[in-house]
Amino acid sequence: MILTGAGQIGMAIARRVGYGMKIVIGDRSLKNAETVADIMNKAGFDCVAVEMDLASRTSVRNIIAEARKYGDITLLVNAAGVSPSQAPVETILKVDLYGTAVLLEEVGKVIVEGGTGVTVSSQSGHRMPALTPEQDRLLALTPTDELLALPMLQPGNIESTLHAYQMAKRCNVKRVMAEAVKWGERGARINSISPGIIVTPLAIDEFNGPRGDFYKNMFAKCPAGRPGTADEVANVAELLLSPQGAFITGADFLIDGGATASYFYGPLQPQ
Ligand SMILES: NC(=O)c1ccc[n+]([C@@H]2O[C@H](COP(=O)([O-])OP(=O)(O)OC[C@H]3O[C@@H](n4cnc5c(N)ncnc54)[C@H](O)[C@@H]3O)[C@@H](O)[C@H]2O)c1
Repeated sequence: MILTGAGQIGMAIARRVGYGMKIVIGDRSLKNAETVADIMNKAGFDCVAVEMDLASRTSVRNIIAEARKYGDITLLVNAAGVSPSQAPVETILKVDLYGTAVLLEEVGKVIVEGGTGVTVSSQSGHRMPALTPEQDRLLALTPTDELLALPMLQPGNIESTLHAYQMAKRCNVKRVMAEAVKWGERGARINSISPGIIVTPLAIDEFNGPRGDFYKNMFAKCPAGRPGTADEVANVAELLLSPQGAFITGADFLIDGGATASYFYGPLQPQ
């Protein structure tokens, strides 16, 4: 199994499905990868930590090569990413949009028959208004190395780090649809999960960032009335990654306590 992003969500999913196999954990922060590997190894898992940068194709290929030293790749969990309060527009597009596309493409070339993957998108992409069918198609099908040159992703067309993040997460969902076709040719499946507010270091940065009040209001007024936990995201991932999910591929699952529903049709509607 390859796990990219040694955060709370990634670890929760890996703990749910990664028993009995080698887990190669990659993170831009080797310390994060080592910390998660250590926690999991002390709980009976078999993990190795590597430094990797999702925004670099070379780095993505390196983690795949590392994983293949232990056997075929049967599972991919991508939970690496940066949030709107953590990075500038260029970094968000390079990591969350381009990097995810590269990872899905590269793992899709080697995933074993029966293999499965999930990538973590976000409710944020669901809240952004619909793009045109042409724009969706460009996000889905543009060759990875040309993605960041798309006119819609140029500075004049991206208003803020939040907008960059939303475009990245919308792109993740579209890439998953396009990749599901290719993964299907290998007898493999790929899906995405779009969490709402899940308490993790990334979300805590958001609570303390410029949009802190907005986020606190969001979970207070969503139907669930609270933020979610990484373990609840792992519940969905377990279904998608297991044989029970055999008929599910190219799909995206919103798990947000109803925040998106309330944003469109309830008390979270923008004034
Ligand atoms: N927490 C939430 O509320 C929430 C909501 C929706 C979506 N998400 C998404 O979930 C994913 C995981 O987030 P989390 O909340 O577990 O955060 P986290 O901060 O706990 O983990 C994210 C990890 O990604 C790593 N990372 C960042 N840039 C990287 C890069 N270029 N290459 C490799 N690793 C990199 C970080 O070092 C960190 O360990 C992200 O894609 C995030 O956008 C989170």
